[in-house]
Amino acid sequence: MHFHKYEKIWLIFGSGSLIVFLMVLGFAAFWKGTHPQSHIETIDPQNIEAHEAFQAENLGLHEVEDGKYIVNIVASAFNYDLGKDENGDIVKTIRVPKGSSVLFQITTRDVVHGFQVAGTNVNMMVEPGHISRFETVLKNNGEFTIVCNEYCGIGHHLMFGTVEVY
Ligand code: CUA
Repeated sequence: MHFHKYEKIWLIFGSGSLIVFLMVLGFAAFWKGTHPQSHIETIDPQNIEAHEAFQAENLGLHEVEDGKYIVNIVASAFNYDLGKDENGDIVKTIRVPKGSSVLFQITTRDVVHGFQVAGTNVNMMVEPGHISRFETVLKNNGEFTIVCNEYCGIGHHLMFGTVEVY
């Protein structure tokens, strides 16, 4: 069978880009640990307090056992509610020791938001009616910015927080 020169070039280009694409996907999934969040559990967005994790006093960081944490978050336009500290001040920073395993549980009462902890593999879509969960091990020291990466309205850029790994 005879292939024209241009046909050959296009075949090589096509197969080449497919291989590059699969390598990028494999690198992100297996090396960087980027996976979609769980969407198994549903919740009534009008009544998220019916779920224990999203009651005001349970928001924010909780140590469940040595080195294992849960962070409960409610996203809404245009804020991440991480609860209040013992002085009653609004929490904007989650602080955990290096090497901790952290389960982020998040839901929203209004529109679709994002929950990305820049510089880590935590990157979730937060949809009304669903609980998004993602567990990760924070291996590196530093301050990581939480950002909303789904355009949710006029104050989209005001949605942020910080995860500090010490
Ligand atoms: Cu919330 Cu963009």
